[in-house]
Amino acid sequence: MNVTVCPASSPLRGTITVPGDKSISHRALLLGALAEGTTTVHNLLRSADCLSTASCLKALGVGIEGLEGSGPVTVAGRGLQGLAEPEDVLDAGNSGTTARLLLGILAGQPFTALLTGDASLRRRPMARVTAPLARMGAQILGRRDGSLLPLAVRGGRLRGGHFALPVASAQLKSALLLAGLNAEGETSITEPAPSRDHTERMLAAWGVPLRRAGSSVILPAGPRLRAQTVSVPGDISAAAFFLVAAAILPGSQVTIKGVGVNSTRTGVLDVLARMGAPVTLTDRHEESGEPLADITVAAAPLQGVEIAGPLIPRLIDEIPALAVAACYAQGETVIRDAAELRVKESDRLAALARELGALGADIRELPDGLIIRGRPLHGGEVKSHGDHRLAMALAVAALAARGPVTIAGADCVSISFPTFFSQVPGTRRH
Ligand code: S3P
Repeated sequence: MNVTVCPASSPLRGTITVPGDKSISHRALLLGALAEGTTTVHNLLRSADCLSTASCLKALGVGIEGLEGSGPVTVAGRGLQGLAEPEDVLDAGNSGTTARLLLGILAGQPFTALLTGDASLRRRPMARVTAPLARMGAQILGRRDGSLLPLAVRGGRLRGGHFALPVASAQLKSALLLAGLNAEGETSITEPAPSRDHTERMLAAWGVPLRRAGSSVILPAGPRLRAQTVSVPGDISAAAFFLVAAAILPGSQVTIKGVGVNSTRTGVLDVLARMGAPVTLTDRHEESGEPLADITVAAAPLQGVEIAGPLIPRLIDEIPALAVAACYAQGETVIRDAAELRVKESDRLAALARELGALGADIRELPDGLIIRGRPLHGGEVKSHGDHRLAMALAVAALAARGPVTIAGADCVSISFPTFFSQVPGTRRH
């Protein structure tokens, strides 16, 4: 599907909601499958990625009800050791979170499973997960020494241990925590910088006595996981596109209600505020161990900023949206320490440079980042590279551009935000 987005004819004003958080939705399904009892999930994100997790779990014998509707979803937990050997290859689709977290679970199950994904996922690095899982005792075979999907996993008895992560990756940390649930001895993990901690919060809320010490998390041996009722907050990574749109379109003010504002995810708010956009949080409260708030952002003249260091994991998925904000800011924005973007759903550094460049942006690639000098963008034809966040970032760029922008392959927004284009004014599908 191609979508044409026209320059906004008026400021964005009003109150909106965004779908449930993708990271938390995956985890609610996965932990629900491993728990004792039936888990109920409110506001689960029904996007292609989360449906990939659900279909893999169903193939492992887990009963999941309610996915077709918009009400609560129930997951009939099978306990830590209760999954069934799948009859066919498990398909994680486009979803890195499904593949990596599932590898952690499969490592501790006493059977063989095969796991694959789409062309993008089959290019993404898995050795960061498979190497430590092999150290814990799992047998994993695949191309390039088990570093690329498809992978065959023969799980079984695992040993815990200490793991110092080479990258700040919540997917890697979570895979090891999930494997650690079935390991003998404690599992401890040290991160180079804090990544999203939804797995830790959820495990704690579900009865696992995790300990945190500095940059480490320690999972004791022999935990029990009790089914819960979970309420999924709105996804700040989905909200980011509208926050940036409001910040760059003169006269705009948008409130997004009920968004997750876990501090491991709110780097985008810090950067927008530093760029000069007024950001306010109201109605702060907590649900299912996660903080939520209504976020209001208004348009303002933006300034270029530097985005680097430990801030990067706190906004890793928001860099496409922030790159668009940088295009409409005065002066230079420098993004560094973000080489991980080269191994996301697309090589996001190359894809952003190419596609924003095609709209007239002054944007240069660094090995681990981007340098962007603000100047107005024009209309044109761009490609999504099959990457949902690129498609949405380009749509936001179009709202503030001088002419219409046609985005080829825009249907990939279904990966994380199926209703995105219905919430963007002035779009035409063809
Ligand atoms: C995610 C972690 C991040 C993020 C991804 C979702 C998660 O990936 O980019 O969209 O749910 O754990 P990494 O762990 O590879 O940084």
